[in-house]
Amino acid sequence: MIFSEALKKKFSEAKSVCVLTSAGISAESGVPTFRGGGKNPNVWKGMPFDQISSARMVRENLKEVWNWFDYRRDFLKKCQPNPAHLALVKWERKFENFTLITQNVDELHTRAGSENVIEIHGNINRSRCVKCNKRFQMKAEDVPHKPEKCDDCQGEVRPDTVLFGEMLPTGTYEKAFERSSDCDLFFVIGTSALVYPAAMLPETAKREDAYVVEINPEITTMSSICDESLQGQAGKILPLLYH
Ligand code: OAD
Repeated sequence: MIFSEALKKKFSEAKSVCVLTSAGISAESGVPTFRGGGKNPNVWKGMPFDQISSARMVRENLKEVWNWFDYRRDFLKKCQPNPAHLALVKWERKFENFTLITQNVDELHTRAGSENVIEIHGNINRSRCVKCNKRFQMKAEDVPHKPEKCDDCQGEVRPDTVLFGEMLPTGTYEKAFERSSDCDLFFVIGTSALVYPAAMLPETAKREDAYVVEINPEITTMSSICDESLQGQAGKILPLLYH
């Protein structure tokens, strides 16, 4: 891939860089995407992901939600960070002011070595009590999950990720929004850009005059607002931009 002179200049001069990653960045690690581009369908026992991963399902059948989450946690143990995740670890060291925001819950950025990751949809290896909200860090190797009940109040424990029908955790999204509003260069990587408010982040960066670059093999609803759309796989493109 040949990069434009404008992008090369922005990349070498930027003081503040923000990156939003989504399911597409983990596709080359074998993690199923939600709506496109991945190999494996995100379906559990015939239920589409927005049904099994929903607030309603937590209320009605938490056991099945856990079966689905434990299946994914087990699946993720076999997935490794790919060259795109590794490239972003180098970017974190290169730029004076670097923010990595992800919609992914798969922990692959952290496993690659990124130190500061804003996980706006939570983390698949965290759980919380439905009654008192106490949080638990699970070990990736603990499948099925532990604990099942809160050790303080005996309430049921649920995955600590954002599910359909739920708001984003307070504070986390605000931080992502602030950083997106105040950067010179913004990358939006591997998202179909259909889920709000995450999709608002590149729009905000653009409105505040950042140079916005999309990396995705497909054209998305975000492409038209981007300064550049680099069409291809993140694992191929990112390592070429800086090595
Ligand atoms: P989607 O599955 O909607 O979109 C994945 C995007 O990744 C598509 O646009 C693909 O073209 C692109 N893609 C595929 N392979 C790629 C690669 N190798 N490199 C770069 N891009 C690639 O996933 P998201 O946009 O992440 O939320 O979905 C957003 C949210 O919807 C998820 O965080 C999840 C889901 O509901 C929650 O679970 C709360």
